[in-house]
Amino acid sequence: MNILHIISSPRKGASASIQLANGIIDKLQAAYPGSSVQVHDLATNPFPHLEEAKLQSFFTPAESRTPEQQAAVKHSDDAIQEVKDADIIVIGAPLYNFGIPSTLKAWVDHIARAGITFRYTPEGPEGLIKGKKVYVAMSSGGIYSEGPGASNDFVAPYLQSVLAFLGMTDVTVVRAEGLAFPDLQATAVQKALDSVEIEAAEVAA
Ligand SMILES: Cc1cc2nc3c(=O)[nH]c(=O)nc-3n(C[C@H](O)[C@H](O)[C@H](O)COP(=O)(O)O)c2cc1C
Repeated sequence: MNILHIISSPRKGASASIQLANGIIDKLQAAYPGSSVQVHDLATNPFPHLEEAKLQSFFTPAESRTPEQQAAVKHSDDAIQEVKDADIIVIGAPLYNFGIPSTLKAWVDHIARAGITFRYTPEGPEGLIKGKKVYVAMSSGGIYSEGPGASNDFVAPYLQSVLAFLGMTDVTVVRAEGLAFPDLQATAVQKALDSVEIEAAEVAA
């Protein structure tokens, strides 16, 4: 298996989402010996916001792009290629102000391209990135899986929606939560990891 690990926490070794994602990847490698791991750290290698040249490049046919537009579209082409090359994608997603970090949103904005990763058909939109298994390794200071916080979780619903729109419908969200509570902090990542069962049949061989 080719595993793509998208990191969006800038906290390196202190990051719960990175620890959780690494734990999921360890389990995947145990289930699929010999799997390779490609890491894209958005904290150190971010995608820019969609400025004018970039947006124009998305909507200009390849043969008509100016050199500036060719350079602008390359980030997106590279991001999409990384996703296409992966069988399994593990996305680290800290909850920031009820949503995803802006670096992760910029990555989403670079992989969502009309005509390339999704298209509109008479029957409605169709995602074109198919056959992937995705794990979202979420981390949050509070509790969002249940209780009063649940309606403020715009991480899991958003990522599930946008990934499904692009064709990635097989998404498992794993949560290390309650990290702001001293009594939950020590065990949150391990508890989340213990809930992960790799079902080999889920992933296209
Ligand atoms: C900028 C920022 C915003 C945050 N917003 C929230 C929030 O709205 N709710 C919450 O429960 N935790 C919030 N947190 C706490 C993080 O979700 C928590 O520290 C998490 O562990 C971060 O992920 P990481 O450990 O992978 O870096 C925020 C943290 C930061 C740095």
